Amino acid sequence: MAEIKKLEKNNTYLKVLWSDGEESKFNYLWLRDNCPTAHDKDSNHRMFNILNVSKEINPKNYNINKEGKLEIEWSEGNHTSYFDLNWLRENCYTIKNKKKYISPYKLWDSSLKDEFKSICVEHDEIMESNNGLIKWLELLHHTGIAIVKNAPIEEKSGFAVLNRISHTRETFFKTPFEVINIPKPNNSAYTAHALRNHMDLPWFENPPGYQFLHCLINSADGGESSAVDGFAVAEYLKHNSSEIFNTLTNVYLKFRDKDYTQENHRGFHAPAIGLTKDSDYHDIRFSVATMDALDCHPDIMDKVYKAHHEFGNLLHSDKFQINFRMEPGDIFSFNNRRVLHGRTAFDPNSGHRHLQGYYMDRDEIIGRLNYLKKLKS
Ligand SMILES: [Fe+2]
Repeated sequence: MAEIKKLEKNNTYLKVLWSDGEESKFNYLWLRDNCPTAHDKDSNHRMFNILNVSKEINPKNYNINKEGKLEIEWSEGNHTSYFDLNWLRENCYTIKNKKKYISPYKLWDSSLKDEFKSICVEHDEIMESNNGLIKWLELLHHTGIAIVKNAPIEEKSGFAVLNRISHTRETFFKTPFEVINIPKPNNSAYTAHALRNHMDLPWFENPPGYQFLHCLINSADGGESSAVDGFAVAEYLKHNSSEIFNTLTNVYLKFRDKDYTQENHRGFHAPAIGLTKDSDYHDIRFSVATMDALDCHPDIMDKVYKAHHEFGNLLHSDKFQINFRMEPGDIFSFNNRRVLHGRTAFDPNSGHRHLQGYYMDRDEIIGRLNYLKKLKS
């Protein structure tokens, strides 16, 4: 239960000294904008418009009232706000900004293979319990990779378990997309060739956040899967080759959809390593197959190519990559903008290999996890 010991009016903010010694600065415009009456009680949308008051608004009177609320009578608009102290404390941006950022990501390298079971989760556990679903979502969010085991092997049966999270992300490949060798393929995934580690659809402004490859049949020789944690490789470069790291985070590369069946020219520029506001990893863009003819400045082209070369080699190195064989009923699930995936070539004459793929946006994974965790607490 938050308690206030002292209030002090300043030029642009109210200084609050809490009884536990913490100190907060609450800006006047921020306070007025977040008055509890500003929001519609049903939609929770803000109905109040801060543009309707002047930039000089400030408290005419202020105190902690008999109900224990912070009461502010404003200098204009004939309005008084009543703030719940717990709400103020929970939303205090002074305290939030003092806290050290903790990354949600557990980075991994090839040693993950020794604890492969730790990233597996049973299909029925997800279907039957929220704890199973949370376990899957936590693996996806924190580790970026999970294998759902013993799922049904009927076509399109992946929808049921995916819909435990949310709806899928549609693309022109349709949902599910088929990973099977076809004649005259419009994508290298539809061949029996080896696929180097890559992400899917890097040429979208917002590439799918997660990918789910559901193995229905895998009786052909070859076709071993690979995965690598792009964030772990980025972290390695940050500590060992800061110049390469800076190039990969700052220079915009060009990606282009090369699908000949499309009556649409899709393309996007983005750095190989994207960072968040906290300088944590946001995403990786890497795909040898769909990186376009680069168009960066001639003075930096050599540096950019050498950085791309180094990054690509590390993304395929024994230090970071894991290899495994997908069994029918496995759903190889991963953060498409963090964990790159690939496979070795397979012999289409030795047996069949059929995967069905699904995409989902990152918002659905993180949002659902946050909701379920709050439900439990
Ligand atoms: Fe792929």
